[in-house]
Amino acid sequence: MTDRLYIFDTTLRDGEQSPGCSMNIDEKLRVAHALATLGVDVIEAGFPIASPGDFEAVHRIASEVKGPCIAGLARAARRDIERAAEAIKPAGERGRIHTFIATSPIHMQAKLRMSPEQVVERAIEAVRLARALAGEVEFSAEDAGRSEMDFLCRIVEETIKAGAKVINIPDTVGYMTPDEFGQRIRTLIERVPNADQAIFSVHCHNDLGLAVANSLAAVENGARQVECTINGLGERAGNAALEEIVMILRTRSDRYDIETGIDTTRIVPTSRMVSQITGMPIQPNKAIVGANAFAHESGIHQDGVLKHQKTYEIMTPESVGWTTNRMVLGKHSGRAALRARYAALGVELDDNRLNDVFTRFKKLADKKKDIFDEDLLAILSDESEVNVERIKLVSLHAASGTGDTPVAAVELEIEGKLLKATAEGDGPVDAAFKAIKSLVEPNGKLLLYSVNAITSGTDAQGEVTVRLQDGNRIVNGQGADTDIVVASAKALISALNKLPDMHAKVVHAQYSGV
Ligand code: KIV
Ligand code: ZN
Repeated sequence: MTDRLYIFDTTLRDGEQSPGCSMNIDEKLRVAHALATLGVDVIEAGFPIASPGDFEAVHRIASEVKGPCIAGLARAARRDIERAAEAIKPAGERGRIHTFIATSPIHMQAKLRMSPEQVVERAIEAVRLARALAGEVEFSAEDAGRSEMDFLCRIVEETIKAGAKVINIPDTVGYMTPDEFGQRIRTLIERVPNADQAIFSVHCHNDLGLAVANSLAAVENGARQVECTINGLGERAGNAALEEIVMILRTRSDRYDIETGIDTTRIVPTSRMVSQITGMPIQPNKAIVGANAFAHESGIHQDGVLKHQKTYEIMTPESVGWTTNRMVLGKHSGRAALRARYAALGVELDDNRLNDVFTRFKKLADKKKDIFDEDLLAILSDESEVNVERIKLVSLHAASGTGDTPVAAVELEIEGKLLKATAEGDGPVDAAFKAIKSLVEPNGKLLLYSVNAITSGTDAQGEVTVRLQDGNRIVNGQGADTDIVVASAKALISALNKLPDMHAKVVHAQYSGV
């Protein structure tokens, strides 16, 4: 009988820990709905004790997203576990507390300053408490890759006794090689006497580029849950990429007689949504989801593929959600078609939301003939900003040309007040940014500015991502428009709207700074 591998997605927790990848609550909800449509088994929705925003996001996902189990992360500490339990409560029996404590000598000595004995005690207490408060409990031995094997066996045995149904073995620092990691999983399953009472899981980081290989080695040796993220997002070099693991298992089913519940045709749309929301571009040669993953450039390859697709393609682009017929809607399309297309993208719109999105869609269709899926997702990105729109762009005029000094004039509505500024800059975007920034404070340090054409053609919408830093806080903003300067201004404003203390400058003389 074919075995089942559980896919635990941690895009919203470990993925969100990537520098600059923080998402607001609406964005997290959109990703969570997309993950449910994709068919993941578990969504790790966040770390509820980390902040009120994290708590709220986990709570809303637990209330609104049906299907997958919803997990909340908690250190092995009473307050963390109680907070996680409260956050996942609306998911009922589908709620999981994922509690962890470090087990490697270096982490126990230098970070926790606890003896191995104390760590075992703390882990047992944590699992018992979590068991009393949630439907499911997962225990992780942080830095298991560098932990001593005897100690790891002991803590795993004790936490299973205490009620953990899933035991996660993370390679927290991405140090393992596939052989040794696979062996580690095999040894645990063979040596821990009650191993048959839990599912073994792995969570591999990609510091040496081995996260996917290590995860597969673990699966070959008995692991039946893999923790991974869309596009391989995650701390430092990221986590194992969900799309790669799933497609390896499917494409090489001759080697791995194991199934997942993933609808692989949802992979590309989900990957694009995550990239768009986090502002993390996908490298073109990224396996499965990169723009070039199925592009054949050399004549020999093109000739081969035309004669027989399998000459150079081991899977079809359609099987992972790349569609050749991507033109979907135009200005004559109606509400029903729009709703149906969003549903196909994994986004359900109720009547109110449909009306709002339809108005935006019509505005765009007036400017652009063909509306692609990417355009539809960009409309949603713009829409999610509406909820936190303290600054609104009222108008923007920019002028530039060879030999002229670029200049921009903006009108913004900030918390009900209409404010205007003009500025010169090194280009029209720079001028627009200077004008906008002259009206608000704090206005953050620009860490990243990136522009992508969402679709092909000169009428394509430009999609801009802006990343700002204010003190310890890093925020992303996105904007899309057929006019690149307007898209840039929208992206900057969307990022400014996420800075909690942002307000209009008290004195705002007309600015014409150069
Ligand atoms: O990398 C890690 O060890 C983690 C744990 C919290 C599972 O993210
Ligand atoms: Zn991790």
